[in-house]
Amino acid sequence: MDYSVETAPLEELQCDCVIVGVYQDQQLSPSATALNNSTNGLIKKIVSRGDLSGKNGETVLINAIPDSKIESILLVGLGENKPLSGKNYKKALLAAVNSLKKPQIKSIVCSLAECDVEGRDWQWKSRHIIEVFNDAAYQFTHTKSDKETESKLAKISIAAPETERALAQAGLLQGKAVAEGMDLTKYLGDLPGNICTPTYLAEQAIELSKKYASLDVKILEESDMASLGMGSFLSVSRGSRQPAKLITLNYQGGDKNAKPIVLIGKGLTFDAGGISLKPAAGMEEMKYDMCGGASVLGTLLAVAQMQLPLNIVGLIPSSENMPDGDANKPGDIVTSMSGKTIEIVNTDAEGRLLLCDALTYAERYNPEVVIDIATLTGAVGVALGRVAMGVLGNDDALCNDLIAAGEIANDSAWRLPLWEEYQELLKSNFADMSNSGGKDAGTITAACFLARFAEKFRWAHLDVAATAWRTGPTKGATGRPVPLLSQYLINRANS
Ligand code: BES
Ligand code: MN
Ligand code: ZN
Repeated sequence: MDYSVETAPLEELQCDCVIVGVYQDQQLSPSATALNNSTNGLIKKIVSRGDLSGKNGETVLINAIPDSKIESILLVGLGENKPLSGKNYKKALLAAVNSLKKPQIKSIVCSLAECDVEGRDWQWKSRHIIEVFNDAAYQFTHTKSDKETESKLAKISIAAPETERALAQAGLLQGKAVAEGMDLTKYLGDLPGNICTPTYLAEQAIELSKKYASLDVKILEESDMASLGMGSFLSVSRGSRQPAKLITLNYQGGDKNAKPIVLIGKGLTFDAGGISLKPAAGMEEMKYDMCGGASVLGTLLAVAQMQLPLNIVGLIPSSENMPDGDANKPGDIVTSMSGKTIEIVNTDAEGRLLLCDALTYAERYNPEVVIDIATLTGAVGVALGRVAMGVLGNDDALCNDLIAAGEIANDSAWRLPLWEEYQELLKSNFADMSNSGGKDAGTITAACFLARFAEKFRWAHLDVAATAWRTGPTKGATGRPVPLLSQYLINRANS
């Protein structure tokens, strides 16, 4: 995809389609007015005929513009004639991009950044054009014989007045970085478990570090993890033929002595549940159980592109969870790297068994904060649906910063409590704790388990089990929470 900022008058541009906005009261946006004037009142005619009511998200495509270099004009309804909410701005952008897929439009100029959006500047508005359009243009074709994609979109220009060029350009660069990070995350999430193995994920991390000099990679093998005493993590991978990997990425963009932000991503390349086998229906979707890990790779890609002045460590414990003669059995007791013992009452609660050792490993980086990202519980979808991811943690400021970043990035997150009372559900008669708290408050008890390994630093946990993936006819990885994490890091870099 090619991105640019265009400051020339719209009517002079050569492109397949110009996108302009119209309000519900038939008021044309400044760009729509300019095009209306250069086309002898064409847009006014269409609007006054009632072909577009101006409701947010409504669109009309005008083909064949007489005496113009522009091939077509897409009118997009913006709703009420007042500043748009961030969500309505996104809704209008989504409507625009979706109505351009079928007509096979290759190059567009989008003028919608000129809309007033509550509390947002040109940089934010430009960035979101890139993110929304790139997201919609993504299609997974890697394992299809026919590589034809529904969308032919190859060039996106943001129309901006000369006075806003710098902000629009800054937004474009951020948007491009985040969009490419999301692309990588989605691609890895969509890949099947027989291609995207722990070894494959490790190779992706190595590729990333070759592309960006600011990124160093180190892969810990099972033997390394055994020396470190990661008995919890290794108990999960023992049931798999694929060797487990602990991928470590080091991004050095800040002061040499600045403490790093550690991002830990769950990297289960397939979760069959182990001996506590999952039901067959929908099990194929458990290839996306590495989306937390993939979002760490995607976020580091975005950070490296933006060259943020921070130090960041990415840790991705990666394994399969399979039934096998050597797999964990319900009732087995393992010893984690921290020394704490765990009774495995359900082998399907495997994510926390990897994450607890990664959390203990994170101590050696003397972290500023630790954020883990995991498709950890089905219960988070029951609590919050597919709108907001769950946030839990031991530090109010960190949790609030993540939620605030999600709001700016249109990548919603909501907090659940981590109260002491819930810890009781993890009691085991035979070990220091059980790996499952049963069916009540599943997302909270999972985080309670992790909290026991995060006592030495400020920590937050993002449960993305319901938001990293879309089900239904458009099923596939969403690329979340790359926007939230990128925004959080941009905010940190600016503070
Ligand atoms: N990877 C799953 C969580 C999950 C469920 C992700 C649905 C995406 C969609 C996780 O490893 C798991 O199996 N969790 C169990 C925990 C339970 C056994 C305590 C769950 O949520 O049922
Ligand atoms: Mn599981
Ligand atoms: Zn899992």
